[in-house]
Amino acid sequence: MKITVIGVGYVGLTTGVCLAEIGNDVLCVDKDKIKIVDLKQGKIPIYEPGLADKTLKNYQNKKLNFSTSIKEGIDFADVIFIAVGTPAKYTGEADLTSVETVVVDIAKKMTTYKIIVSKSTVPVETGKKIQETIRLYNRTTDFDIVSNPEFLREGSAVSDFLNPYRIVLGVNSQKAKDAMLEVYQNIDAPKIITDIESAELIKHASNSFLALKISYANALSRICEKVGADIEFVTQGMGYDSRIGKDFLNAGVGFGGSCFPKDLAAFIDISNNCGYNFQLLKEVQKINDDQKQSFIDKIKEIVWNLKGKKFAVLGLSFKPNTDDMREAPSLDIIDSLLKEGAIVTAFDPVATKNAKAILGDAITYAETIVDATKGADAVIILTEWADFKNIDVANLKLKTPIIIDGRNIFDPLEMKKKGYIYKGIGR
Ligand code: UDX
Repeated sequence: MKITVIGVGYVGLTTGVCLAEIGNDVLCVDKDKIKIVDLKQGKIPIYEPGLADKTLKNYQNKKLNFSTSIKEGIDFADVIFIAVGTPAKYTGEADLTSVETVVVDIAKKMTTYKIIVSKSTVPVETGKKIQETIRLYNRTTDFDIVSNPEFLREGSAVSDFLNPYRIVLGVNSQKAKDAMLEVYQNIDAPKIITDIESAELIKHASNSFLALKISYANALSRICEKVGADIEFVTQGMGYDSRIGKDFLNAGVGFGGSCFPKDLAAFIDISNNCGYNFQLLKEVQKINDDQKQSFIDKIKEIVWNLKGKKFAVLGLSFKPNTDDMREAPSLDIIDSLLKEGAIVTAFDPVATKNAKAILGDAITYAETIVDATKGADAVIILTEWADFKNIDVANLKLKTPIIIDGRNIFDPLEMKKKGYIYKGIGR
């Protein structure tokens, strides 16, 4: 199947490359000329394991191409994926201006039947708005709308696309359904065929539920600390029950990223707009915010006054295997430390460049773990990078042997044996 993908960001590039990988002919369109030139030269703008080589391979065997012309994109294929950004406004509502701009462009330029597929995360009933908008600008050409939400995790987006738990297809015609089944024919996964509104809701409902699980584990960790239990045992004991499941029950310093915070806020906004006060999700947000604050309190509890103290922060990205700093818990935590007059040196395997763009010279950036920790009053773990789990803590040259582990990557007994004052989450 010939496919155009409009918007070549995290989702759009992964979608375009993987759709080519499974045998489609794909044209990725973006208005950012520099990005398109870079992509044609094999320069991938995002750190995503496996994406670079698949981009190069499919580009070289002509299954994948790039363009800045939306007209070329519309003429190239009958199936057009919209994968532009839908960031949160300050109210939490999703900003759909990019979606509307693209939809109007398609409406004005399309002259033959098209299937417009919404891949971007959009509020429920956006499909209806797309339908109305196209009809407004193009009263003659036949088209169908599809909602095909993505469930990609950063750091594993390529494998998530090629081996999904499910593919959700919100359609309102047999023709669109048949076309979408052909697009995904080479992916062996359950295809959930629904109406458009249900497909749109599945995305927000899924992300919000995953965030809810995390906040539930984080709330439990607070109780564990009060009664001397270990959250790792509690969630392990819970997770064996397949009705609960062990995934997304890891307590830590809270969730970040470009999706959970944004999708939660958008879903709360959507619910308000349709007359339901989703108090439960507001609590999920509050627990996440409190978790970062309680982590700062934990640091104070052990280190006492923070002013003038030197902290080695290990991990800046919002999760391992990504360089993405969007809504990373490290930003709030470092901000709180700096406000108290602390001195911060940070190390992250890949996110330093993106972190510098946000934090600037408010902190210093070490090239290695040893450099970051030299002379520090305490080590603070904020992202569970695999590198950190193998640190030989006995050889760290700290001023005082304190480790505050925001992702429970170390074993408390091990740390005690090695002479450290160790504090984890919920332990
Ligand atoms: C998420 C969803 O998983 C994905 O399906 C959706 O398409 C996009 O949003 P992503 O945000 O890339 O993916 O990363 P994810 O692995 O879900 O982690 C999100 C945040 O939750 C990270 O900050 C991570 O550290 C945190 N997290 C995750 C926890 O704190 N505990 C957990 O058990 C799991």
